[in-house]
Amino acid sequence: MERLKIAIQKSGRLTEDSQQLFSECSIDIQDGKRQLLAPSANFPIDLLYLRDDDIPQYIADGVADVGILGENVWIESQTELRIAKRLGFAKCRLSLAIPRGEKYEGIDYFRGKRIATTYANIVKKYLAEKGIAAEIHEISGSVEIAPNIGLADAICDIVSTGSTLMSNGLKEVETVMYSEALMLANHNLSPEKEAILQKLLFRIEAVAAAKQNKYILLNAPNDSMDAICNILPGMKSPTILPLAQSGWSSLHSVVNEEIFWELIDQLKALGAQGILVVPIEKMIL
Ligand code: PRP
Ligand code: ZN
Repeated sequence: MERLKIAIQKSGRLTEDSQQLFSECSIDIQDGKRQLLAPSANFPIDLLYLRDDDIPQYIADGVADVGILGENVWIESQTELRIAKRLGFAKCRLSLAIPRGEKYEGIDYFRGKRIATTYANIVKKYLAEKGIAAEIHEISGSVEIAPNIGLADAICDIVSTGSTLMSNGLKEVETVMYSEALMLANHNLSPEKEAILQKLLFRIEAVAAAKQNKYILLNAPNDSMDAICNILPGMKSPTILPLAQSGWSSLHSVVNEEIFWELIDQLKALGAQGILVVPIEKMIL
């Protein structure tokens, strides 16, 4: 029986969310502090804990079959992989930033400037498309200190909360790309491995659907039930049960959480009482 090898970041911004993704899918995993390769006991996957920058090449070479990686790191690597799923966490942007005191009037600012970055390929392409010639200094870490120590005039780096820029006296002036965690896969998986991947994606989708939806229970007078069913969208056939108190029923259904909050006043106006909103663990569509 084949097993799917999945590379995840050993330690960094994606590690915890990547591990959580598996545990939400009821897949038991060990963490990678002691070992490089961690097999799951209840799902046919082995996790490979790697440095994020190494993950694209490992997948391209077939050492790993699949990997969880920031879009920015993948694009920078220029490897041919396929996106199996956008995972929606580790959202951030890759931005150009300059010292806070500098006047900024547009992208022309960067002509002839020295820009420090770990994302040289992405920055070069971005500036070339804008017709800007600049000096790109590729450095491997602590990019944000480069302007302060006179190593560069500007930087291009990941911004999430913005606090790193803030504490280094820098301001964000251009967004080069947006990024989120992706599940990336090798183009040539065996049919057996592809089947494991699809099984995993099915579970991930069930978890994601469950997160967006809530199980809702409410009591209301019988003559309001039709109106309530009409305003609660996305319900094919809600469960309606008579209550012991005559003339009243209980309604059970599944609703998108955001829509639910918009409807709460209307539901109350229709006489709904005892409204319970309950999290759903898995939802199979
Ligand atoms: C990135 C980036 C900044 C920080 C920005 O580093 O290099 O240091 O995150 O986040 P903030 O806007 O919330 O302050 P990351 O943690 O990805 O590590 P790495 O770049 O060294 O891999
Ligand atoms: Zn890194």
